[in-house]
Amino acid sequence: MLEIKDIWKTFNAGTTNEKVALQGVSLTLADGDFVTVIGGNGAGKSTLMNAVAGVYPVDQGTITIGGTDVTRLPEHRRAPYIGRVFQDPMMGTAASMQIEENLALAARRGQKRGLGWSITKAEREEYHTLLGTLGLGLEERMTSKVGLLSGGQRQALTLLMATLRKPKLLLLDEHTAALDPKTAAKVLETTETIVRRDKLTTLMITHNMRDAIAHGNRLIMMFEGRIAVDVSGEEKKKLTVEGLLELFSKASGSDEADDKLLLS
Ligand SMILES: Nc1ncnc2c1ncn2[C@@H]1O[C@H](COP(=O)(O)OP(=O)(O)OP(=O)(O)O)[C@@H](O)[C@H]1O
Ligand SMILES: [Mg+2]
Repeated sequence: MLEIKDIWKTFNAGTTNEKVALQGVSLTLADGDFVTVIGGNGAGKSTLMNAVAGVYPVDQGTITIGGTDVTRLPEHRRAPYIGRVFQDPMMGTAASMQIEENLALAARRGQKRGLGWSITKAEREEYHTLLGTLGLGLEERMTSKVGLLSGGQRQALTLLMATLRKPKLLLLDEHTAALDPKTAAKVLETTETIVRRDKLTTLMITHNMRDAIAHGNRLIMMFEGRIAVDVSGEEKKKLTVEGLLELFSKASGSDEADDKLLLS
């Protein structure tokens, strides 16, 4: 479903601020893979995701989504394949619009606004059911403005919007990091439910090693622009935080592995 072949990305090349953010990353995800991505600050996790989404072009290498080579496609032409949720709860939703309008907007992504845009009864019922699965009571507030919602409620809604059209690829970049622990757990639980229900191929960046271990069928750890650890199947199921730190130390040759990871 996703095939990344030897991608490289350098920012500010040729200047004193030059930063090689990706150094030959290759990664293949099968249909329905749920991969958690972990790594210290600046390891290249977001750059990898942005490269896949087409936020900026890569310097070298290829990216294929569901059999389509998207390497040279601009961001808006990759958008139909991709659902994304970022860290900032304010980013994925339109504050001045109602909850149901936001959902309708997500459902009509890529379509021209005009006749036939109004929300049908069937859609309203679908949204009611979907919102109900969040367990936040939003199904009773479908005409409320999104700007009135809490960060966690907005993030949960963003998740629904990003997955409404069952994207070929779901990209989550620390989407629970800005939420309080209880809300974060709730949004993560919803993520798990939706990803499993729709068998979505998913990349989820997290700074929380326990979350990275508890979710998904595969875990990758990035270090200095490379994939340093890649664990799946039975090995992933048996993984512990200690085991993960050990794998990372071995891969990076760094004794500071514990601090770097735990503090970042
Ligand atoms: N648009 C950009 N312009 C210049 N440098 C960038 C840009 N985006 C990322 N970088 C640099 O590339 C490196 C990798 O950054 P990236 O955001 O991918 O890290 P990350 O693993 O997501 O870290 P974090 O856990 O802090 O989010 C960093 O050194 C960062 O400063
Ligand atoms: Mg990041």
